[in-house]
Amino acid sequence: MAYPCEYFQKSADFLKTRFDGAPEIAIVLGSCLGPFAQAIEDPVTVDYADIPNFLRTTVSSHAGTLIFGTVRGVRVVCMSGRFHSYEGYDFQQLVIPVRVLKLLGVRAVLLTNAAGAVNTAYRPGDVMVIADHIKLNGDSPLRGPNAEEFGPRFFDVSRMYTPELRRLALDCAEGGPLRVHEGVYMFFPGPQFETPAEIRAARILGADAVGMSTVTEALTAAHCRLPLLALSVMTNMAAGVLDRPLSDSEVDETARMIAGSFSEYVKTIIAAIHEALDTDRRATLNQEPVLTTDEYRF
Ligand code: HPA
Repeated sequence: MAYPCEYFQKSADFLKTRFDGAPEIAIVLGSCLGPFAQAIEDPVTVDYADIPNFLRTTVSSHAGTLIFGTVRGVRVVCMSGRFHSYEGYDFQQLVIPVRVLKLLGVRAVLLTNAAGAVNTAYRPGDVMVIADHIKLNGDSPLRGPNAEEFGPRFFDVSRMYTPELRRLALDCAEGGPLRVHEGVYMFFPGPQFETPAEIRAARILGADAVGMSTVTEALTAAHCRLPLLALSVMTNMAAGVLDRPLSDSEVDETARMIAGSFSEYVKTIIAAIHEALDTDRRATLNQEPVLTTDEYRF
């Protein structure tokens, strides 16, 4: 089922009673990447369960709270805990969070996730800036009647992972402790990890990493033309790369190991996006946009 604009507006109106002023950047934290939430200053926390028309997290490694606050002086809203199709949600329900964030007035979205490395040059603990994705499984989250207020029925996705933000994320990694690549993310619906044959197929198709999230949120952001950056943390080598079974404890352990440096990296990126948006605002006044930003329908 697809929802009209008023459906999302109800959640946004409720949230606007909980904090002052619009957040500038939204961050969605992936599995086990929750520790970043502790970096948010002056936090105001709202449980998903209290937000009308919102979804509920069902995965223990996802907290289930929306946190408003600041990071390096930048106003942010952070989803600590996200929603996946493997929890039983329809793809169309998975548009809800990003549309609510859009109605809150955010100017850019940063998605994070835990992923399995398909590219054998990658190692657990590496980060991949998503350049593009492959989604051959399941519906589009935009299937059904189109909510024109957010964007057109048919829309371009060839630059959905905003090139300027990808460049910015790679620049922010320079001199830091993380190995950061740029690559292609392939969506698998889960909840089972992939088979070794699926991973070999993914590699032939051009994937560098696989995971069970992110693409629905990314497509929703692209539809309403929100500048978008997505980062995958390689928590494990994908199925069949090493001769041993995968487990969620391996995923948890790697995520815990890099939590500190990943949080620092995300903080640096937030400050840089803020700067880029600001530069863009100034440049736009001179008719020279630096960052492809939305046309602000709302
Ligand atoms: N496959 C899918 N999703 C994942 C993986 C994986 O190997 N690791 C973390 N999330």
